Amino acid sequence: MTARLNGKVPLISGTGSGMGRAAARLFAAEGAIVVGTDVNADANSETTELVRKDGNTMTSIAPLDVSEPAGAQAWIDSAVEHHGGIDILYNNAGDTRFGSFPDVSVEDYEYTIRNELGITWHCTQAAWPHLISRGAQCSCADQSRVSTAPRSSAGGACRGEGRGDGPDAPARSGGRRARYPGELG
Ligand SMILES: NC(=O)c1ccc[n+]([C@@H]2O[C@H](COP(=O)([O-])OP(=O)(O)OC[C@H]3O[C@@H](n4cnc5c(N)ncnc54)[C@H](O)[C@@H]3O)[C@@H](O)[C@H]2O)c1
Repeated sequence: MTARLNGKVPLISGTGSGMGRAAARLFAAEGAIVVGTDVNADANSETTELVRKDGNTMTSIAPLDVSEPAGAQAWIDSAVEHHGGIDILYNNAGDTRFGSFPDVSVEDYEYTIRNELGITWHCTQAAWPHLISRGAQCSCADQSRVSTAPRSSAGGACRGEGRGDGPDAPARSGGRRARYPGELG
C-alpha cells in the first residue's frame, strides 16, 4: 500500500458488509482513520475486527440508521468531535426493493427512496460544512447510469439509472450485464 490516505478521516456508511466493508479495509490499509456506521451492529463489529486484525484503525457508531436525518447528523457530529473533521464521505449504505414498475407498492417505493436517496441526502447535508472547511470537492456515491428501462426501480431513479429488459439493453447501457438476478430479463 502507498499510505496515500495517511491521517485522513473518511466516513463510510454501510461498513457492515459488501463494498462498505471492503472500502473500510482498503482505506484503513492506505493509512486512513476510518469512521464507519451500519444499521447492523454485529456485522459492523466484524468489519471493525477485520480492520484491527489487518493492523489498521477504524472507529464506528452502530447500530445507526442513517436514512433518518437525526441518525446521519449523530454520525457526522461524533466523527467531528472525535477526529476534528472529515476529509471524505463515502455514501455507500443503501437498501433497495426491486420490482417491475407497475408492481412496486407505495411502501416499497418509499422504503427505497428513504434507504437510497435519503441516506445520501442526509449524510451529505450533515457533512457538507465539514467537507467544505477541509477543501473536499465531492461526495462519493454510486455512479449515475442511464438506459431506457421497462424494468426500473425507485433505487435506480435515485441514482439516475434505469435498467432495460430488451435484447439491446446491454448495448444501450454501455455493455453492462445484469448485476441483480433477473435485472435484464
Ligand atoms: N452490489 C452491487 O452490485 C450494487 C450495484 C449497484 C449499486 N449498489 C449499491 O452500492 C451500495 C453497497 O452495495 P453492497 O452490495 O455492498 O450492499 P450490502 O447490502 O452488502 O451493504 C449495504 C450495507 O448498508 C447497510 N445499511 C443499509 N441501510 C442502512 C441504513 N439505513 N443505515 C445504516 N446502514 C445501512 C446494510 O446493513 C449493509 O451492511 C448499496 O447502496 C447498493 O445499493 C450495489
